[in-house]
Amino acid sequence: MASIVEVLAVIGVLLLIPNVYRFVSFIWLYFLRPSSIRSYLHGPAPYAIVTGATDGIGKAVAAELYDKAFNLILHGRNDEKMRKVINELRARGTHDTDIRYFLVDAAQPGHDFAQMMEPYKDLNITLVIHNVGGSYGLQPERIDERSEEHILSVVHWNAIFPLFLTRALLPRLRVSAKHGPVLVQFIGSIAGDISPPRLPIYAASKKFLEGLTRGLDNDERYFGTPTGVRFTYIAVGAVVSNSLRADVNLGRPTSETFAKTLVARSGCGKRRVAPYVVHAIMQWAMEAMGEEVVDRYSAEEMANLIAAEEKKA
Ligand SMILES: NC(=O)c1ccc[n+]([C@@H]2O[C@H](COP(=O)([O-])OP(=O)(O)OC[C@H]3O[C@@H](n4cnc5c(N)ncnc54)[C@H](OP(=O)(O)O)[C@@H]3O)[C@@H](O)[C@H]2O)c1
Ligand SMILES: *[C@@H]1O[C@H](CO)[C@@H](O)[C@H](O)[C@H]1NC(C)=O
Repeated sequence: MASIVEVLAVIGVLLLIPNVYRFVSFIWLYFLRPSSIRSYLHGPAPYAIVTGATDGIGKAVAAELYDKAFNLILHGRNDEKMRKVINELRARGTHDTDIRYFLVDAAQPGHDFAQMMEPYKDLNITLVIHNVGGSYGLQPERIDERSEEHILSVVHWNAIFPLFLTRALLPRLRVSAKHGPVLVQFIGSIAGDISPPRLPIYAASKKFLEGLTRGLDNDERYFGTPTGVRFTYIAVGAVVSNSLRADVNLGRPTSETFAKTLVARSGCGKRRVAPYVVHAIMQWAMEAMGEEVVDRYSAEEMANLIAAEEKKA
C-alpha cells in the first residue's frame, strides 16, 4: 500500500510537470531559439507591410525588416513625415530593396480597402505587421461622457482597420503562402488583458484582435485545405514611443529594442507572444497575483497617470 507521503509525492510531481514545461519553453523562446525571420524572405521579391510606420514601434519594425532585406509597403497618414522616414531607411544603406507607401487615416470609417490594396495585388507579401493603433492618451472621461464618434474612432483605429485590411489582403497572402510561410501579426497591448479604468474601448479593441488572431488562424489551418497563412497576437507592455514619451527602464524599452525582439520572435509558432522578455515576466506575475489585486493596482496607477497628465496640461 502506498503511504500518504508517496501519494503526495506523486501529486507534487504531476503538478510540477506543466511548470517545468513552461520554464523550459520560456528559456528556449527568449534565450536559445534562433530567429526564423528569414523564412519569410522567399520568392524573388518578398514584401512586408507595416502599418503606423512613421513613428514609434512601427517605424522601428520597418527599419529592422529593411535591414533584413525585406521590400516594404509602409502605411502612415502624413506624406512629409513618411518621406522623411523612407529617406532615413535608405540612409541606413543596408539594402536597396523597394519601399512603397500609402496614407490613410485608420481612425476614420468608410475606406475602400480593396482599392487601397489594389497597387500591391501582384506582389508576394509574406509578412503583415498591423501596428497602427492607440488610445488618445490617458483621459479622465467615462464612456458616457464621450461622443459616439470618439468611441467609434478608437474601435476603427485599433480593430476595424486591421480587420478589413487583412480581409483585403487574404486572397493575395494565400498565393504567397503557396511558396513559403506567411505571417500576419496584430500588435496588441497588456491593456487588453487587464482592461484598466478609463480605457475600456481601447482594451476591448485589442482583445478583439486577440480573438480575431485565433479565429483567423483556425480558419486558415483547420477548415478545408490549410492555406499556410498564420496569425500571431503580439502582447506589448510599455514601450517608449511618440505616444509614450517617458524614460527608458528595464520594463519600458525603446521602440528599437522592442522591434528587435518582435522580429526575433516572428514565426516562433505561438499564437500569442510577448516578444520582450520583461513584458513576458510581468504578464506572468500579473496572472500569479490574480485579477482583484491587478485591478486595484491598475486603477491606482491610472489615477496617478491621469493626474500627472492634467498637471502637465
Ligand atoms: N508604446 C506603448 O507603450 C504601447 C503599449 C502597448 C501597445 N502599444 C501599441 O503599439 C502600437 C504602436 O504604438 P506606438 O506607441 O509606437 O505609437 P506612436 O509612436 O504614436 O506611432 C504611431 C504610428 O501610427 C501612426 N498613426 C497614428 N494614428 C494614426 C491614424 N489615425 N491613421 C494612420 N496612422 C496613424 C502614426 O503616424 P504619425 O507619425 O503621423 O503620428 C505613427 O506612424 C499601437 O497599436 C499601440 O496600441 C504601444
Ligand atoms: C511570387 O513568388 C513566386 C514563387 O517564388 C514567383 O514565381 C513569382 O514570380 C513571384 N511574383 C512576383 C510578382 O514577384
